[in-house]
Amino acid sequence: MQTTPRRVTIQTLRQKKEKGERIAMLTAYDATFARLFDESGADVLLVGDSLGMVVQGHDTTLPVTLEEIAYHCRAVVRGTRRAHVVGDMPFMSYQASIEQAMTNAGILMKEGGCHSVKLEGGAVHAELVKRLVAAGIPVMGHIGLTPQSYHQLGGFKVQGRDPGGRERLLDDARALEEAGCYSIVLEAIPADIARDITASLSIPTIGIGAGTGCDGQVLVSYDMLGMDETFKPRFVRRYATLGQTIKAAVGSYIADVQTGAFPSDAESFSIAENKATPTSIDPALYSTAGKKK
Ligand code: KIV
Repeated sequence: MQTTPRRVTIQTLRQKKEKGERIAMLTAYDATFARLFDESGADVLLVGDSLGMVVQGHDTTLPVTLEEIAYHCRAVVRGTRRAHVVGDMPFMSYQASIEQAMTNAGILMKEGGCHSVKLEGGAVHAELVKRLVAAGIPVMGHIGLTPQSYHQLGGFKVQGRDPGGRERLLDDARALEEAGCYSIVLEAIPADIARDITASLSIPTIGIGAGTGCDGQVLVSYDMLGMDETFKPRFVRRYATLGQTIKAAVGSYIADVQTGAFPSDAESFSIAENKATPTSIDPALYSTAGKKK
């Protein structure tokens, strides 16, 4: 009999830091990839607003809506049995007022089914984090390069190198921990600053472009799987070249369709067969990709 694995919780993540075990986090946007990442052992899956760029084709994450994150959260949660699923609060879903942010985080938890939410920014959101946590909504912080502030920052740039940058990041991280965040993403900051932040906090830090001194790492799954051959920032390690693999597979399929090599007789149905087998639709004929077993 197949047993259901224990779901990773915010307490599991804290214990991992205490035991010195690194946390592996990836972004996920649909049930099929979520199932693959979950079965591979990823601890945390982030339904990131990066979906605006890698799924929707925008240049920034700004156009992503709350409804879109909730929709992708539902798909990702359906694909997982073990991973902790984080729903990303999109641009302007939490900045205008604490009340609106509470309502919107509630929508991600209730309608998206995620297990916690993430929001970008430091001390400025301390009051909001306190309110969310008091309401039972676990919050992951995100400091350093915060892509929703793309226009304010003047682009996707490494943060914290300016005079006072290190202290500001440390203050922000401490303020988020004090407010009740269970973890903080550190994006695109010098490795030594990330190491100092990690050492000064009791909650786990998850780095992306922040060196090896964090308690865990996160990458945009499409980047680490090599879906886009033209995109390879320094902090991304490509573990596959799926873009090339997909193009080769699709090229072979197109050639087979054009020459008539696909489908074969074995991939087709015949009247004689229909007489011997039930006429109702056989679910085994259809893909079950993405379904929880
Ligand atoms: O939206 C996202 O994918 C993120 C990660 C890069 C941390 O915020």
